[in-house]
Amino acid sequence: MSSKSSISLKPTGAPKKLLKINDISLQAIQKIFERAKLYKAANQQPKTQPSKVAALVFFEPSTRTRMSFEIAAHRLNLRTSIFTADATTSLSKGESHHETLNNIIAMEPDLLIVRSPENQKIDKILLETKIPTINAGNGKEEHPSQALLDAFTVLENRGTIQGEKILFVGDVSHSRVAGSGRILFEKLGAEVAICSPKKLMPQSAEWKGVQRFEDLSTALKWCTVCIGLRIQSERHSKKSLPKDYISKYRLDAKNLNALGAKAIILHPGPFVNKIDLDEEILKDSRCKIHDQVTNGVYIRMAIMEEVLGATGT
Ligand code: CP
Repeated sequence: MSSKSSISLKPTGAPKKLLKINDISLQAIQKIFERAKLYKAANQQPKTQPSKVAALVFFEPSTRTRMSFEIAAHRLNLRTSIFTADATTSLSKGESHHETLNNIIAMEPDLLIVRSPENQKIDKILLETKIPTINAGNGKEEHPSQALLDAFTVLENRGTIQGEKILFVGDVSHSRVAGSGRILFEKLGAEVAICSPKKLMPQSAEWKGVQRFEDLSTALKWCTVCIGLRIQSERHSKKSLPKDYISKYRLDAKNLNALGAKAIILHPGPFVNKIDLDEEILKDSRCKIHDQVTNGVYIRMAIMEEVLGATGT
């Protein structure tokens, strides 16, 4: 176990940030899981100062992550101020994303929670700001709070993460969920594999050596946790979906016959019915997709406390 006890502090004395999953030590992950479990059991009082303001800045669409952070903040008695990139903001007058973020930072919120498309200027601002910050998903890079809530859901349902066989199915190459998830699950001792058409398999160095399946049935027989992914059509530019994608890779009752009886099915959402999966599988007792969403609030309460340095340890 790492000797670091918290989310990365670079340099010493700098604000705590969760920008990527590698920012967080094993000890801090464990602390977050423990506190999320206590919150879920209604056995934990928040340690945050109620007067603090969390700014939620969302340059990309979101349902789960934005609402989940907002509800988590309210449960911690924090106040929230929310920016969503729509026609009522000065983005519609031509202001850039990065200048918008500079202005919000200049208002000095106590905590920043930011979702952005791929944008190096925003990444740099978040790295440099003195405000504690959480990445709520950036481009196809990272989605660390999603990875933590996924891992927590695996732990809750499978009793362990060590030795679990985690399979990401679908558009892995454009998925920030798979990006953060692979690192976290491997860090916690699980084995990770992917299943997708060749065209949607990641080619970057980070994915070198990760087991790859093209056949869904073989992959489902291998895994103990199946994580479906949405086709990220907003990031495909010129790429199109392989013609046989739905017949070969959609998660439905027929395909899932190959999955073990004690295995679980996850999906970060939003799922596109009849493409990523058939919504009939929500009735499958192995499907924990809505449990993930419930757990997201508790995990985000624990993450926000950790980043605000409010855990009292
Ligand atoms: N899982 C997830 O990031 O969903 P949203 O895009 O709805 O926030």
